[in-house]
Amino acid sequence: MQNRRNFIISGATLSTALLGKSAFANDDITTTNEINNHYKVSKTNIRTLGVGKHSLKVNYGMGIGCMGMSWHRTFIPDKVPMIKLIQKAYDTGVNFFDTAEVYGPYKNEELVGEAIRSFRKKIIVCTKFGFNIQNGQLSGLNSKPTHIRQVVEQSLKRLKTDYIDLLYQHRVDPNVPIEDVAGVVKDLIKEGKVLNFGLSEADVNNIRKAHAVQQITALQTEYSIITRDPEGQILNTCEELGIGFVPYSPISRALLTGYINPLTKYDANNDNRDTLPRYTPEAVKTNWPLIEVIQNFGNKRGLTAAQVSLAWLLAQKPWIVPIPGTTKFAHLQENLWSVDFKFNEDELKEFTKQIVNIPITGARS
Ligand SMILES: NC(=O)c1ccc[n+]([C@@H]2O[C@H](COP(=O)([O-])OP(=O)(O)OC[C@H]3O[C@@H](n4cnc5c(N)ncnc54)[C@H](OP(=O)(O)O)[C@@H]3O)[C@@H](O)[C@H]2O)c1
Repeated sequence: MQNRRNFIISGATLSTALLGKSAFANDDITTTNEINNHYKVSKTNIRTLGVGKHSLKVNYGMGIGCMGMSWHRTFIPDKVPMIKLIQKAYDTGVNFFDTAEVYGPYKNEELVGEAIRSFRKKIIVCTKFGFNIQNGQLSGLNSKPTHIRQVVEQSLKRLKTDYIDLLYQHRVDPNVPIEDVAGVVKDLIKEGKVLNFGLSEADVNNIRKAHAVQQITALQTEYSIITRDPEGQILNTCEELGIGFVPYSPISRALLTGYINPLTKYDANNDNRDTLPRYTPEAVKTNWPLIEVIQNFGNKRGLTAAQVSLAWLLAQKPWIVPIPGTTKFAHLQENLWSVDFKFNEDELKEFTKQIVNIPITGARS
């Protein structure tokens, strides 16, 4: 145990040394979360997204993705248990809740708004704009400034609040200069309707241009053991500019839990996995060696595959905050417990060597 503790301490020292070239270096990233920490989450498990006045402290270093409670994850659960789940998440100390206008569409923001009413001021509410919605369907990108303003007004109503803690552009709109998008969010921040700005799936060029107009607190992009695209340029840019990173689909839409197999069925009326090449029976079968590596590692340490996958993400950088989605409190708790496992340097090196050597079949989208 003592050895393990020493490993953790030396890991922390190493991260601090590596932070030297980063905009995060000047920021205190481990202080307690005075506003939102009613549950007394250990201060070593609080992570900070962004720097300075546009930073956010996230309990457990992990949030909850609410999308699947209304959209895209096979069955749509009843509203009442999902409201209770969000409230139970808050009672457990979770303070970072992720939704978007398009989830449902609209329904997920409504659900979140109803659930958080009594503790809204104590949490971080994240939502997103960036699409046209017609007859309940997405119909292309739209980040025109007037549209952003309309969406924000509607999101505020659905979320039953007068400010959004973190507002992301959901996807970069090639028809609207990113500087204009950042400009309108900057104005919304001045007006107090939005507190912080984020992008999702943006490239380095757009990140830099937007950040020059309005400081970005977080980039939300798909990242997991099976989808390592952000490594290199994107994460380096975040580090340089002091932008936090929020991996979405951090357990690859349940694939990395080992619960999906080639026979798994998805409801084509709601679940987008039915359309994604990585979830075809052939791809699931071909990629199975990766799941075995994750399970083998977990089996020797009393961890589930989901926990190994989340702990590995947390081990990449101290400013990474995953947002696994779930409709079940047992899964939420399992996911939160992954923060208690810290890879030591040798474990991380050896495990990463094994996973990068496994070829992956099937595009993520
Ligand atoms: N910015 C974007 O473009 C974007 C895109 C997609 C998602 N997101 C955000 O990211 C969040 C998470 O993404 P996601 O839902 O796509 O993928 P995910 O978090 O990787 O996976 C969620 C799936 O895993 C299952 N699961 C969760 N914990 C589990 C556990 N411990 N054991 C077994 N199964 C478990 C969930 O089912 P159960 O309900 O059974 O637990 C659900 O089907 C979303 O809610 C949304 O807020 C953002």
